[in-house]
Amino acid sequence: MIDLLIRGASLPDGRQGQDIAIRGGRIADVAPGIDAEAGRVLDAGGHLVSPPFVDAHFHMDATLSLGLPRMNVSGTLLEGIALWGELRPTLTREAVVERALLYCDLAVSKGLMAVRSHVDVSDPALVTVEALLEVRERVAPYLDLQLVAFPQDGYFRHPDAAGALERALDMGVDVVGGIPHFERTMEAGRASVEALCRIAAERGLRVDMHCDETDDPLSRHVETLAEQTLRFGLEGRVAGSHLTSMHSMDNYYASKLVPLMAEARLAAIPNPLINIMIQGRHDTYPRRRGLTRIPELIEAGIDVALGQDCVMDPWYSMGTGDLLDVAHMAVHAAQMGSQADKGTLFDAVTTVPARILGLEGYGLAPGCHADMVILQAADPAEAIRLRPARLAVIRRGRVVAETAPEIARLALDGRPGTVDPAAYAPRHAR
Ligand code: FE2
Repeated sequence: MIDLLIRGASLPDGRQGQDIAIRGGRIADVAPGIDAEAGRVLDAGGHLVSPPFVDAHFHMDATLSLGLPRMNVSGTLLEGIALWGELRPTLTREAVVERALLYCDLAVSKGLMAVRSHVDVSDPALVTVEALLEVRERVAPYLDLQLVAFPQDGYFRHPDAAGALERALDMGVDVVGGIPHFERTMEAGRASVEALCRIAAERGLRVDMHCDETDDPLSRHVETLAEQTLRFGLEGRVAGSHLTSMHSMDNYYASKLVPLMAEARLAAIPNPLINIMIQGRHDTYPRRRGLTRIPELIEAGIDVALGQDCVMDPWYSMGTGDLLDVAHMAVHAAQMGSQADKGTLFDAVTTVPARILGLEGYGLAPGCHADMVILQAADPAEAIRLRPARLAVIRRGRVVAETAPEIARLALDGRPGTVDPAAYAPRHAR
């Protein structure tokens, strides 16, 4: 007896007409024409069924705080950091928890079921850490929340950060963070990368640092992060987030750096929405895009996942909780417009971040958790183009969110009565 049977699914790898049988919260079988009795049958109608979206880079302690205590007028990273510094002393655990839970509702409705969130450890009272540890537990039935101890004001630059970071890890925060480009000097940044990688190695933890989130072509912390990853034997467990300086680097230097990153099996986590919004602010014209070298990193065999970073907070007034918005921006800003590129970018918001986070049982193979989303689109490229309705979101075999298909009614003489945006898929354009 099957708990839930999904019929007529198209899968991200191109297989069509697949049935997915779910039993006990796990995928029991994936095949065409499964003949089994089921408690519930869901017809995917040929639509894309994907494993859930995974956001590899987010700040859940700040989300939905837009306008508190005021708006970011310049729109720059530095005013955002200053504004967050004004807001932080006024935060209460209850308010942070409430905003985070609200955000998670939105995330799940978009098929987003795993988030790696940085949590600021600059306040020695660790209000945000306590809040997000509570949120991690409360959302666990429907969302995997992984927390990174993030010294927003600098590991060395803020006098309390080092102690607070260790205490946050003692309290159960999962990953070691950092922000070397915000330390006072390049040397202090280098030393912070070394110190934080040592902590991760001693504690057996993963690392995810905001790294070279600057337009300075001479910012060199990605290099140090790769070197220290090799030194401490952390290969495959370290991610560099943003890496925007790589956009502006000299090409010869980049040709040396990228193979070093690949050797260290460093993951890269660009955040296209906010990078395109915040970087290049000191430029007149031409104005740099400030996005790291996504196609070149992928070409070198480096895991590249795309993150949201922010949704309606001191740094970014936009954001929807939809990772397809992020992939859509990457198609444009990284100029990755081929059908194959779009498939690669779909992986960058699903399977690749799942690997970076080390999620257990992720995917659509038999034995995996029965976590998936049915989208009103034919395939991954169309999903990014349309950012369509999430017809059903399934967690451990249970439908936890449903959205009605977007069908417009037309009143045009001699034309069809309805428009289904998913029906426009260019099936000849592979
Ligand atoms: Fe960030």
